[in-house]
Amino acid sequence: MRALTLVPGDAGSLAVEDLPDPQAGPGELLVEGLVMGVCGTDREIVAGEHGSAPDGEERLVLGHESLGRVLEAPAGSAFAPGDLVVGVVRRPDPVPCGACAREQFDMCRNGLYTERGIVGRHGYGSERWTVEQEYAVLVDPALGDLGVLVEPTSVVVKAWAQIDAVGGRAWFAPERVLVTGAGPIGLLAALIGVQRGLDVHVLDLVEDGPKPELVRRLGATYHAGPSGKVMDELEPDVVVEATGARQVVIDAMSRTSHYGVTCLTGVSATGRGVQVDAGALNRDLVLENDAVVGSVNANVDHYRGATDVLAAADRDWLGGLVTRRVGLDDVHDALRARPDDVKVVVDLRTTA
Ligand code: BGC
Repeated sequence: MRALTLVPGDAGSLAVEDLPDPQAGPGELLVEGLVMGVCGTDREIVAGEHGSAPDGEERLVLGHESLGRVLEAPAGSAFAPGDLVVGVVRRPDPVPCGACAREQFDMCRNGLYTERGIVGRHGYGSERWTVEQEYAVLVDPALGDLGVLVEPTSVVVKAWAQIDAVGGRAWFAPERVLVTGAGPIGLLAALIGVQRGLDVHVLDLVEDGPKPELVRRLGATYHAGPSGKVMDELEPDVVVEATGARQVVIDAMSRTSHYGVTCLTGVSATGRGVQVDAGALNRDLVLENDAVVGSVNANVDHYRGATDVLAAADRDWLGGLVTRRVGLDDVHDALRARPDDVKVVVDLRTTA
């Protein structure tokens, strides 16, 4: 089978390789890979800045946003050949820590977790893959290839669960939410805000292309101004930060309404700073009972929640998120970000 592999840490090592077809072990599904989504994490791995291969191996199969069709399922399992499935990204650490022992591996305490296609485990970027049945999530066949959005949606379902939990420490009835960043994570976070009946605003840099239109079609309001100014005007009750851009992150933390909740989901580059008035930031957080929470990854419950979110969404709108689809042979192109990209997917079925 063909698989998308690279040597972690070695920029320029990305290649389509021929690997032996995998065999399903006990309790595992054998799956035909259909599509794989590409995100910023993949681009970091390809640039040699993140990721690790399984112990004792040199190359890593890339791909953590999956969608496949079951070819073989264990007898008596909840899956049958033909089912559409997505594979969960993270696996618990081997110790395991208290959170991993309770199926909350997205909250791992010792950092020894593994992640398919990212850290220490092969991913889903291949024509065939296997997955343990308890880490496979059934996808509504009506979603078709849009099932590849389940993983990024699971990440924002988790982020909203964090906001609810943090907000739930006192009376909490948020009305206005600002999402910073109109990439897939931002747009899917906005989708959930709209599904909850909130007044949703989305901020990004671009003034044209698909992003402003996708926000409008969602029934949300698009902004392209400087983040501090937009936040001062809106005074959001909740901010979902999905850019990782330093100044936006600082503005997101310091300019909410009283009892505001800021959920940080973007991963920033390190090594460069912005000037911050730490005293003002501290005063603002303390005097307003504000909260800032970081959120990454998702557990199986969040994936299930994600399938519900996508089932309730407008199919055409979801389709608009996929702005580019390329074959395995053009994968280098897929991994080069273009300004108008929202979600780029690699079609694993396309053969040379
Ligand atoms: C993935 C998460 C993962 C994170 C850090 C993200 O792109 O969606 O599942 O935990 O990267 O590796």
